[in-house]
Amino acid sequence: MRKQYIFVIKESFFIKAKIYFSHLFFSSFLLLWTLFNEITNFNFRFFMSKVSINEINVLAPASVANIVCGFDILGFALNGPHDKMLIRKTSQKEVIIINKDNYNLPTDPPKNVIGGALLALLDKVNEDIGFIVESTKIIKPGSGIGSSAASAAGAVVGANYLLGNRFSNEELVHFAMCGEEIASGSKHADNIAPCIYGGITLVRSIAPLDIISISAPELFVTILHPLIEVKTSDSRGILKTQISLKDAVTQWGNIAGLVAGFMKNDYELIGRSLIDVVAEPIRSILIPCFDEIKNKSLLAGALGGGISGSGPSVFMLSKNEATAKAVELAMIKVYKNIDLNFHTYITKISSQGVKIQLENS
Ligand code: HSE
Repeated sequence: MRKQYIFVIKESFFIKAKIYFSHLFFSSFLLLWTLFNEITNFNFRFFMSKVSINEINVLAPASVANIVCGFDILGFALNGPHDKMLIRKTSQKEVIIINKDNYNLPTDPPKNVIGGALLALLDKVNEDIGFIVESTKIIKPGSGIGSSAASAAGAVVGANYLLGNRFSNEELVHFAMCGEEIASGSKHADNIAPCIYGGITLVRSIAPLDIISISAPELFVTILHPLIEVKTSDSRGILKTQISLKDAVTQWGNIAGLVAGFMKNDYELIGRSLIDVVAEPIRSILIPCFDEIKNKSLLAGALGGGISGSGPSVFMLSKNEATAKAVELAMIKVYKNIDLNFHTYITKISSQGVKIQLENS
């Protein structure tokens, strides 16, 4: 009986010791593992902060300016297409532009949208720094979906990244406007702002810059691109420089209604505010079958739409993808009957502006 008792004591002692040592082993292992991770992570972060990134890839989105009634003040970024740029930082004050497409755009920096934007940025940098930009334009120049803005915005956002993000978004808009001015002959930021901020933007003022991001419900965008080139400078040149008070009242009612419609997620208000009495009646003559495209799109269920930027592209907004597809079919049906090449696509408003991709990432 006694022997048995000793055995029980011995057994429980060994079991407890075993549990104790396995706990000790396990906690020591955890402690060492955590320490190892902290040290290696710290070293990795320290190492990364010391690595200077000199080269990045940039994706700059297309955008729709004006959104019908907001001439020069409203715009939104699109999910695609995107222009591509490879930007490399150099150690002297210079801007070198290499075109990797067939558009034959000028490479002399003061005559090029990318060049103009980067020269404005470098003007605010007191160091021997410059940039080489390899530009591949996917957004066709003169198509009305913010081709020049994508070049200007992509260049300055990319350059700013290589400079450690020292400039604010508003400063970047200012630099990019200097580039956009080369293409359009005037300073406006309704393509540039959404290209940099993403989403829908309102440019309340350009001097001083005052940019407001506008929230909105999910919207699908159907684009018709007639393959004709309309230069922004020409499309601006034909506009009247004065409007009647009656038209002004109609226009600002629609602008306010559109912004309120976006922010209140009110699709009907968005739809009935997409009316332009200032630019569309004049510019629409440059776009074959514009009225028919618009009427058939509305019949197919679009909320509304109009000329994208200064044209020739036309855009229509829809609540859902099925309607956006029906609108696309209606557009194709109209254009199939005329002797003009075109393409159509469906995309969405993108909440993101210019995207940075590290080389090899
Ligand atoms: N707001 C501009 C226009 C956009 O309509 O002329 C095109 O750059």
